[in-house]
This record gives sequence, C-alpha cells and structure tokens, in this order.
Amino acid sequence: MQSKKSPCAKRVKNDEFYTRYEDVKTECDNYRSHFFNKIIYCNCDTVNSAFVRYFSELKDKGLIRDIWFSGGLGGADFRSPESIERLKQADLIITNPPFSLFRDFMDLLIQYDKKFLVIGNFNAVKYKNIFPLIKENKLWIGTRPFGGAISMIFNVPDEKQLIESGKHYIMLKGKAMAQIPATWFTNLYHAKQKPLILSKRYHGNESMYPKYDNADVINVDRKTNIPIDYYGVMGIPITFIDRYNKNHFEILGLDKDFTNDGNGAILKGRHLYGRIFIRRLTQ
Ligand SMILES: C[S@@+](CC[C@H](N)C(=O)[O-])C[C@H]1O[C@@H](n2cnc3c(N)ncnc32)[C@H](O)[C@@H]1O
Repeated sequence: MQSKKSPCAKRVKNDEFYTRYEDVKTECDNYRSHFFNKIIYCNCDTVNSAFVRYFSELKDKGLIRDIWFSGGLGGADFRSPESIERLKQADLIITNPPFSLFRDFMDLLIQYDKKFLVIGNFNAVKYKNIFPLIKENKLWIGTRPFGGAISMIFNVPDEKQLIESGKHYIMLKGKAMAQIPATWFTNLYHAKQKPLILSKRYHGNESMYPKYDNADVINVDRKTNIPIDYYGVMGIPITFIDRYNKNHFEILGLDKDFTNDGNGAILKGRHLYGRIFIRRLTQ
C-alpha cells in the first residue's frame, strides 16, 4: 500500500467517493442493538451502495424492519419533499452524504431530531452547526479510532481522474482509491471509546507546556500528553474529540473563539492548526 499525491492540480468532483463495504460493516456492526426492528434510511445511496448492501443483508436476517434508499426514489435529492417525508418516517439515517453539502445535510438531521450515523470530512468538526453539538455531547465520533492519520479510503468512479486530480490516493490491489480525512459522526450510543490514560505531570515539566503568544492557555501537543495535575485551560489538537469524555473534561471552544486576536493559537510566532480549548474536571 503506497500513499501518493499527484502534482497535477486538476480537480476531481468532490462528492463521488463511495464507501467500502468493509468500512460500513466494521462501523455499523457496533450499533446492531440500535438497529433492531428499525427502518434505516440511506438518503444518499443507490442500490449499489455498500450501505444498502449491508442493511439488505440485515433485513434478510430479520435484524432490521426495513432499508430505504434514495436511489429507490429515482435518486431523490435529500432536500426534496419526498426524501424529507421518508426521513421523517425512518428511525435512523445512515449514509455517507456529499461532503460539499454536509452542513445542509446535518441541519436537516438536527431539524427533524433524527438518530444518525454518517460519514463526514474531518474538518466538519469545526463547522458552526457541528462543534456546539460535540461540545454539548449531543454528537460524537464513531468507533473507528483516528490512529496516526485521520483518513478513510473510498472508491471513486474514475481512477484516472483521481490520479490526475492532485488529491491524495493510494493504490490498493492495483486500484487507485481516494484517501480523505474523514470520520463517522453519530448520536447513537456506543461503548467503544478508548479511555485516555494520563501519566504526564505539568509541575516540574512546565517547559513542555508553553503558553500561546495570543492566549493565556498552555499548549499540549498530543492528547496522551495531557497533564494529570493541571486544571487550567489547555489547547489540544482537535483529534482529541475521539477521546472526549464529558465526565473527565470540559470542551470550552475552538481556539479562535478564545485568542485575543480571534485568530487560531500562535506559539512562538507559529500558527498552530486546529486546536480546541479544554479543561480537566476535578474528579
Ligand atoms: C460521498 S458519495 C457517497 C455515496 C454513498 N452514500 C456511499 O457511501 O458509497 C455522496 C453521494 O451523494 C450523491 N448526492 C449528491 N448530491 C445529493 C443530494 N442533494 N441528494 C442526495 N444525494 C446526493 C452523490 O451523487 C454521491 O453519490
């Protein structure tokens, strides 16, 4: 498996990334108790989608009530009245929607108070309609660990176009596949979150935790370095959210909301990408 980035800047259409069956199965198998006797609506899927395949198998085994998909409605737009009607009737919305419409897509789920399990670009964590829900513990990351690199692999309709697009891709069994920073977002309970074990100390190691130039906040450069003996505000990479446990931490906000100048966190003159500000709870 080799990761490549083509130098050519031609753009591939952003929305045609198809989820692999193994990714659907690996994630969805963790929520089987939520699915029992429920109607699942895959509102951005055709009959060929891995989601439709997976849920059709569950239906055949009598493990869900029904599977509906938008292709079955003649490829209905998820914003169309007929698709919204289905969304209202269904119990769960499970899909990988077009990344370019992810904000609208999530607005719809929130508006109709739906239970969901969906794939989105990792950057969506910072969206105005997503981050507050993460903060309030009304939406969280699925069971798939972020690991070193937050990326998922997707099938594309046109491998040649992908290779020429300048986007990241990998060759897997001779096939070019898109490699995108993406993750699962859900409001379905799962018990798979790995606990964060803290062993580092702030006191005696203050130089490891410098304060930002533009905020009275210490920088913690990775979640495993969160000090066990510090209860002030800390800035941490946004990847922290896969270990966020509301009993142990409070999320205060995004870096730009707290810095003196409204920019992201700056450390020794260097702008740091995507920090969130958190505080440990005294427990
Ligand atoms: C990221 S792809 C994922 C496809 C499929 N859900 C899967 O996981 O393999 C998003 C799909 O949504 C379709 N799509 C784009 N705009 C849409 C809309 N407004 N309503 C419903 N589907 C849409 C695209 O054609 C594309 O196939």
